[in-house]
Parts: sequence; structure tokens; C-alpha cells
Amino acid sequence: MRQRILQLLRQHRGEPLSGEEISRQLNISRTAVWKHVQILKTEGYAIRSLPKKGYLLLDVPDKLYPQEIAAHLKTKWLGRKIYYEEKVDSSNNVAKRLANEGCPDGLVVVAEEQGAGKGRLRRGWLSPYGKGIWFSVVLKPPFLPQEAAKCTLLAAVAVAKAVNSVKGVDAKIKWPNDILLKGRKLVGILTEMNAEFGHINYVVIGIGINTTVQPEDYPEELRPLAVSLHEAAQEPFTRAELLAKILGNMEELYETATWEGFAPILDEWRKYSCTLGQQVKVIAPDSTYFGTALDIDAEGLLLVRKADGQVEKVVAGDVSIRPAARPEAYS
Ligand code: BTN
Repeated sequence: MRQRILQLLRQHRGEPLSGEEISRQLNISRTAVWKHVQILKTEGYAIRSLPKKGYLLLDVPDKLYPQEIAAHLKTKWLGRKIYYEEKVDSSNNVAKRLANEGCPDGLVVVAEEQGAGKGRLRRGWLSPYGKGIWFSVVLKPPFLPQEAAKCTLLAAVAVAKAVNSVKGVDAKIKWPNDILLKGRKLVGILTEMNAEFGHINYVVIGIGINTTVQPEDYPEELRPLAVSLHEAAQEPFTRAELLAKILGNMEELYETATWEGFAPILDEWRKYSCTLGQQVKVIAPDSTYFGTALDIDAEGLLLVRKADGQVEKVVAGDVSIRPAARPEAYS
């Protein structure tokens, strides 16, 4: 009911809506309307009560409430169900639990804070309250398990496109799935999969975007490596609107990949890449080597030409852009 009241107030943004009108439209008492409005105020909605005129919605909170995301969402199915909690250990863990319980394809888990955010290669991911967009998407793709990496590349393109729509932001993708701004890490993506031989049950794509994390929030050694979106943004943005945009891009790219194949997504990925053409250092599970990043193949694997001319496919590990070729410090 509260959401329907909010919806009515949103539709009348800029003009007051009387309690009587709300109670008539929703078939509830005026006292019930008043009680719901009080709760909306405690949730951070700025609603002015104007005597004899009604309620006026002045401002919405910068929260990742499902209704705030839904207010901007243009998707058909992705993000149509959102699980929100103020604090979780890791949104990926929550998403995996919900996926194991049979949640719908396209479910999104979002939190204001993560107490035990997870990064790649068993690293942690700092996720302070309200200073980022920490979320996970459950997908049940018709791809083979060995193609799951495509979901990560697709997610990276969806995020890069959305953050670059904020004026002043020129973010790039570092293979396979880091998004860098001014050479420093803005976004990390951690994809986890549950599969059987030849069949993906689900993938959970966990995405962390630093929006207002401050240097002092990080341990000293990470300060030069990380960046937040507000450092480059030349116009205000809300996290909920940005998230809705990302989900819209993801759905579009996912449907393209499903119906037309992956080539158009790889082309988009190449446009945002800061890895291709660069000298890189590859730390693979079994060896470390240097070379030139040539391209990505049809599976999204990085092709690196070593000094002896041999071309290696990078399947797993870390790739850093070598100092001579990078403008600022991130590896
Ligand atoms: C990386 O190491 O670059 C990947 C970081 C992924 C962080 C995100 S935040 C939301 C989701 N939940 C997690 O615990 N991790 C991912």
C-alpha cells in the first residue's frame, strides 16, 4: 500500500495531492494514508503536509530501495524482482541462496553495505554503507558452462556504457572485467556459477561500483589504486537511476547475445577496452609472462603475443597493463 501511495505522490510531483484523494483512489482511510506517509518520511522521503491541500513529494532519498530502482527501470524481466537489505555479508552469497531456493531468472540482490564483500581471487571487497552500488544478478543463461565467462564480459559492457553516460566520465574495461577510471579501479565484477555437465543452473554476477568511497575508507596500500565515480562526474546522479540503467543495458545485451550470438557484445567490449594493444603482464595459475594484448577470441579469452611470437590464450589469472603503457597506477 505504501508503495502505491508513493507512486501517486510521484505521479503528482510538483503539486500536492490531498489525503482524501489518496484514500479514495486506494480505498483506505485518511488515517491510514497519514500513517503510511509518516513511515515514508522515516525512510527518507521528503514529503510536506500542506494544510487543506494535501501531501507534496519534495525529494526522494539516495537509497537503493526497490521502488527507487523500479521508478527508473525499463526492463521486461531483468530486475523486475529486487531483494533489498540494508546490510548483507555478500550480495553474491544471498543471490546464490535465493537461486538455490528457485528464484526467478533476472532476480537482483542489492544492499547498502556488505560486511564481507568478496572480490576475485579470494580477495575481499570494501563495501561501506551507501558509498557504492553493491549488487548481484541471477541469470539462467542458455549457454554452456564453458561459455559462462561471456556473462561477465557482457556485464562489464553494460556497466561501462551506463557509467559513461554520466557527464565527465570516461571509464574503460581492463580484461576481463575491471572497469577503470583514470587508470584506477572503479568497478569490480565477480561471477560465480552453479552448473552440471553441459548445463548452467545459474550464474550470479556480482558487481561493485564505488560511487562515493573516500580514499580514507581504504587501507593505505589500496588508496592509489581505487577511484569513485563522484571524482569524475560533472553532473549529479543517483545510485538507483544508475543501477536501473545498468540493468536495462544488461537485459538488452543479454537478449542480443541469446538471439544473435556473442559477436556484437565482443565488438562493444573492444570499444571500451583499455587492454587491447597494450603491453601486459599475465600472472596465470602456472606461469607469469609478458606480451602484447592482441584481441579477445569468440569466447572472450584474451590473446597475448609473447616476445617469442607465440600467441597465448589467457583463460584465468590476472592481467596488468605494464607501467610504460599506462597513464596512472593500476595493475
Ligand atoms: C573484483 O575483485 O574485482 C570483484 C569485486 C566484486 C565485488 C562485488 S560487490 C557485489 C558483489 N558481492 C560481493 O561479495 N562481491 C561482488
